[in-house]
Amino acid sequence: MLDSAPTVKFRVNGKDARIAGNPLRRLSKVLREDLGLTGTKVGCDAGDCGACTVLLDGAPVCACLTALGQVEGTTITTIEGLAQDTFGRRLQDAFLEVGAAQCGICTPGMLVAAKALLDVNPTPDDAAIADALGGVLCRCTGYRKIFDAVAKAASSARPVFQPPGRGNAVGARLARLDGREKVNGSDLFGADSIPPDALWLKIIRSPYHRAAFEIGNVDAFVVAHPGLVRVFTAADIAGRNAYGVIPPFADQPVFAQGETRFRGEAVAAVAGSAEAIECFDPESFPVSFSELPHIATIDAALREGAALIHSNRQGNILVRGRVSKGDAEAALANAEVVVEGDFETGFVEHAYVEPEAGFARRVGDRVEIVACTQSPYMDRDDVAAIIGIAPEAVRIIPTAVGGGFGSKLDLSVQPYIALAAWHLGRPVALVYSRSESMAATTKRHPAHMRVRIGATREGRLTAMDFSADFNTGAYASWGPTVAIRVPVHASGPYVMPAYRALTRAVHTNLVPAGAFRGFGVPQAAIAVEQLYDELARKLDIDSLEFRIANALTASDPTVTGQVLGAGVGFKACLEALRGPRREARAQARAFNINANGALRRGVGIAGMWYGCGNTSLSNPSTIRIGLKRDGRIALHQGAVDIGQGSNTVITQIAADAVGVLVDVLDRVSADTDLTPDCGKTSASRQTFITGRAAELAGKALRAAILRTANAGPDAIIRAGDRRIEVEEDSVVRTIDLAGEPFDTNGYVLTAEETFDPPTTPLDGNGQGNPYAIYGFGAHLAEVEVDVELGTAKVLKITAAHDVGRAINPALVEGQIEGGVAQGIGMALMEEFIPGRGENLHDYLIPTIGDVPPIVSILIEDPSPLGPMGAKGIGEQALIPTAPAILNAIFDATGARICRTPATPDRVRSAILLLRDRP
Ligand code: FES
Ligand code: FES
Repeated sequence: MLDSAPTVKFRVNGKDARIAGNPLRRLSKVLREDLGLTGTKVGCDAGDCGACTVLLDGAPVCACLTALGQVEGTTITTIEGLAQDTFGRRLQDAFLEVGAAQCGICTPGMLVAAKALLDVNPTPDDAAIADALGGVLCRCTGYRKIFDAVAKAASSARPVFQPPGRGNAVGARLARLDGREKVNGSDLFGADSIPPDALWLKIIRSPYHRAAFEIGNVDAFVVAHPGLVRVFTAADIAGRNAYGVIPPFADQPVFAQGETRFRGEAVAAVAGSAEAIECFDPESFPVSFSELPHIATIDAALREGAALIHSNRQGNILVRGRVSKGDAEAALANAEVVVEGDFETGFVEHAYVEPEAGFARRVGDRVEIVACTQSPYMDRDDVAAIIGIAPEAVRIIPTAVGGGFGSKLDLSVQPYIALAAWHLGRPVALVYSRSESMAATTKRHPAHMRVRIGATREGRLTAMDFSADFNTGAYASWGPTVAIRVPVHASGPYVMPAYRALTRAVHTNLVPAGAFRGFGVPQAAIAVEQLYDELARKLDIDSLEFRIANALTASDPTVTGQVLGAGVGFKACLEALRGPRREARAQARAFNINANGALRRGVGIAGMWYGCGNTSLSNPSTIRIGLKRDGRIALHQGAVDIGQGSNTVITQIAADAVGVLVDVLDRVSADTDLTPDCGKTSASRQTFITGRAAELAGKALRAAILRTANAGPDAIIRAGDRRIEVEEDSVVRTIDLAGEPFDTNGYVLTAEETFDPPTTPLDGNGQGNPYAIYGFGAHLAEVEVDVELGTAKVLKITAAHDVGRAINPALVEGQIEGGVAQGIGMALMEEFIPGRGENLHDYLIPTIGDVPPIVSILIEDPSPLGPMGAKGIGEQALIPTAPAILNAIFDATGARICRTPATPDRVRSAILLLRDRP
């Protein structure tokens, strides 16, 4: 710092602050780095996300757009200071009570903006809340519980944090157990615990979709730039310069060598002091890129003679998927009614508010990575292979994760920080900028789908022929999973006597497409659920009754020949929509009869199913649970909670399995040194698989305690205060734990159980049992379309989901509402164009004003395999929203939208085409 640097004086959270330095520094950096107030989050540094919202003299401002020099003499309130005020405390309690914080990365900004609102308007209506919070983005919640929380804080109602009784944790609307940190700003995300002495990295990336490149003299470059320490390139990788979430397909280099395959691909990393990296201009790095011809589309990649993006993948096809049952071609030829269509979807960006971030440090012969991730054990193994050390020499300590939705399954910052820390012996940090995050990390696969469906005149489905190509980008990521999962699901949960589904994951020179809430199934649902409406219309049968008549039941074989036997609540989901749909249609009819200018209303439905867990692959979870000498119970819960709530629901399951109060469980969260492998947080598997492991482990510990007390299976266990009490037939036995021997983990009694869902491999025709259980659902969308402008507004969504058993109904609703919001984005506004729009002002996601009321209907058709009957809900919630909206647009206008998103220009064009028809 210069001696002459001015000192800026202000007050923060009731305390004086004096900061000397560049008056142009962002206030967000000053708060986080100089004052340690990391509750103020940074999602974009551009005024787009609102995560950095603080109060400046009582008014909400973006701290990332406020210069230090502007705050001289002002009073600032951050999330950490909110509890000093009654409204602040009430808001924090209300957010926690109703479940308005999921991952929690947007929560500080939301709370601060809400506080500003209540200070001037203590009784706001929904419009005022939407107006006040419109500048803060949330990608998880769907905003509905945020409305509820603000309204609750404004009311005189006091929060109810009544813990559930013994044996009643499952089914309780328990407040998120890790929620208090999220509402008071103390939760630590990827960028929040970086040591002050850490070196930082800047990644040098390709500016072209495809380029040859040459790196110059990096030693001379480092010498010429004070503060820089070293440059890392492919030459520094002792192990394997390739990673990937599916080991046989691992193909993405940490650093490209000689040629890059997509814009944003890394070629080098520059390490240096925080100041040097902040000032570093990547343009000064000695690398020369020569742009090469690139392939951007599926058609170009598949064209005869197209250049191969990977020499060992003929025709640029990464993998093919196939499910075939009966003779679909013959059945379609014989079908009395056939519909067909051609549908396309675009790239969709995950747009979590937290960009990828973390740091690594070398500890002796090991390296520890503290970063946001969805898959700690997969990260561990890949990083070890890259550095060339044993997996046990890598420790992954996941931070709180500010949204993932699938993209944080893949490595991002981890190999770079680990490699640099390993070689430099210093902590090394990397936080992606928003544009870097959007350019370089995975997206939802664009799809081109062609579908034919046949039925009898009475409305019975007879056959489907589905073929789809998915643009998987430059590297494999989850392309194989999408190509394999989609054919299993493309029929939807309907009885389909003859079926053929063929898919291909196709390489292009675009950003890799990976996992995004549904692994390709939402794209397929957009095509197929629209065609089911077309078929019903052609048959002159009500589209809901058509679906009900063809709905899969527990005794029907699926398209892979699997008979689920139980836990198939799809028909119940559809039937639950009958009443709301009748009402919605009456309202839409009444609206449309009255003159409403260019506005027309419509109602649409769509169904879904989704297999929980990996497709025909082992994917076990292991839970360890131990009775401590202090009488409390340690739960080693390695399922990373990315906002979906596994920290809470797994604990609820474990508490009931042991038969104790939730409060006596101490959670040991994901850490590859401390928790057994609970697999990745994806494929809607954690509640089902890790939950089942927790149930088994909890029951095993209960059995061990009862054995020790010589008590029967129905005895009551009371834990705590250095002893266990076991009560049976009014006789209480007390086990004093203080003097009991304990194992290496410090546990007097312990249990560890693994659950791996029973599946079977798929044969050459895709026949077999790919998933042990499926979740089911159906959505009803009410939409208003301006037929002159082409704009579509969603008025209401009613979402019925069969979740088997709602372990925590509040969290289930949160998943549904968040999924619906992402479905609205996918239907109406979101499309990522590589090379353009790598920011949150060009790439639009739903704001609080875009998400209508959402009514969740929970159907509980228990799965015999799920913990207490539960199934997954994370991905299920998004799948039917977009097709339901598109069907509603058709209902309103008669225009079928075959290319998503249904932006105003596309809707308007489709309407004009109708008018042009003779
Ligand atoms: S970080 Fe300031 S608005 Fe996004
Ligand atoms: S809870 Fe809002 S972004 Fe995650």
